[in-house]
Amino acid sequence: MELFTQTGGEMLARWGHYLAGVTWIGLLYYFNFVQTPSFASFEAGPRTESVRKLVPRALWWFRWGALLTLLTGLMILAFQENLANGDYYQSAPGRSIATGILLAVIMFANVWLIIWPNQKIFIENAERTAAGQEGLPNAASAARKAACASRTNTLFSIPMLFFMGATSHFAGLFDGGEGGKRAIYWVVVLVLVVVIEGIALTAPAAGAAQAWHIDNHRNTIIAGFVLTAILILLFEVLF
Ligand code: HEM
Repeated sequence: MELFTQTGGEMLARWGHYLAGVTWIGLLYYFNFVQTPSFASFEAGPRTESVRKLVPRALWWFRWGALLTLLTGLMILAFQENLANGDYYQSAPGRSIATGILLAVIMFANVWLIIWPNQKIFIENAERTAAGQEGLPNAASAARKAACASRTNTLFSIPMLFFMGATSHFAGLFDGGEGGKRAIYWVVVLVLVVVIEGIALTAPAAGAAQAWHIDNHRNTIIAGFVLTAILILLFEVLF
């Protein structure tokens, strides 16, 4: 039974990872590319009804999909022998998966610590409106915080998926690189990630200069590919 070998176990973890990842990121793209632009053109009544009856269902699959993606990702790592080898993260595949995981873990934190708590406020507001009660005063700012984190996750998903896949299918073409070059790589990655995530956390008003990349989903997609290109270029130049 090959399925009960270490390789088989790792494959099962990978399969679970694909299914959970598709569920999470599929819904992320639905929210960003379909739902948000559509809601903007809905009448108030149907929008409130959708926020009460459709959004909670979508968010249930979204946040548990995110948790299962994280857990299955950690399972793949646990099955891999190279984890025991401390040099793995100094190799190009190790650097690739570390980059993907860094982005994915920030995305996971955005789901559970920003998007979900703020969406709960937004849903509660819709429930009150439907019951003829006064809305919550912080509903609009909660929606903006969730939207900034959600667009930032869409941006990060583009390089994240490149580096997830590159680990076993591309990164092997590069050198591990010496300490100084690895340090340059991580400093640049961390600065870019901290700046982009920092902007999301401040939830700037729509139209603000620093919010260009999260003003609409078109800009977000462009910014995601630009960030991916910068990171690939770093690999090409440094290693
Ligand atoms: C949340 C934290 C995550 C962790 C800890 C994680 C971890 C991992 C690990 C360890 C691998 C194996 C790399 C290798 O050796 O080939 C991997 C691969 C992969 N991950 Fe993730 N991952 C995470 C999030 C995601 C997300 C959000 C997606 C989006 C769909 C994703 C999609 C993939 C894909 C497509 C692969 C490539 C599998 C292959 O080449 O067979 N991961 N991930």
